[in-house]
Amino acid sequence: MAAGRAIAARLQPPALIMLIGDLGAGKTTLAKGIVEALGAAAGEEVLSPTFSLIHEYGASPKVYHIDLYRLDRVPELETLGLEDLWRRPAVVIVEWGEKFDRELPGERIEIRLRCNDDDSRTIEIAQPAAVADRLPRRRRI
Ligand SMILES: Nc1ncnc2c1ncn2[C@@H]1O[C@H](COP(=O)(O)OP(=O)(O)OP(=O)(O)O)[C@@H](O)[C@H]1O
Ligand SMILES: [Mg+2]
Repeated sequence: MAAGRAIAARLQPPALIMLIGDLGAGKTTLAKGIVEALGAAAGEEVLSPTFSLIHEYGASPKVYHIDLYRLDRVPELETLGLEDLWRRPAVVIVEWGEKFDRELPGERIEIRLRCNDDDSRTIEIAQPAAVADRLPRRRRI
């Protein structure tokens, strides 16, 4: 939740955030922190969109939380009409987006989550040069 707040404070919509990590790495938990810090919804209202694929929160900015775990083929992805989202001044958070690396916009912030042996998480943020100056290079929370 703290990492989500730190990231949200530096976001300027439009922004595409890809959360990358194994099952249970904490992608949805980080998304809760980001959504809550953006004032789009309370953290406990943010549930995994594994079955619904897309959840929409808030107004300004609108936040879309997407989980592509259950999709395997590009035609399935196309039925979601995501192109429409890229044109909006929204924050779009995607879990399992790396499955469709080439179909999703290259202008994105990639956040990698790794579980450590002590159950803490290592979070790595890589972003295009265009937003590099708005995010910290390295930060411990
Ligand atoms: N930073 C953390 N430290 C310890 N436990 C965590 C952390 N982040 C998440 N968890 C716990 O790990 C479990 C899975 O978290 P979460 O649902 O966020 O993972 P996920 O990466 O979204 O998984 P999935 O790939 O299934 O969508 C939850 O029980 C959550 O409470
Ligand atoms: Mg999840």
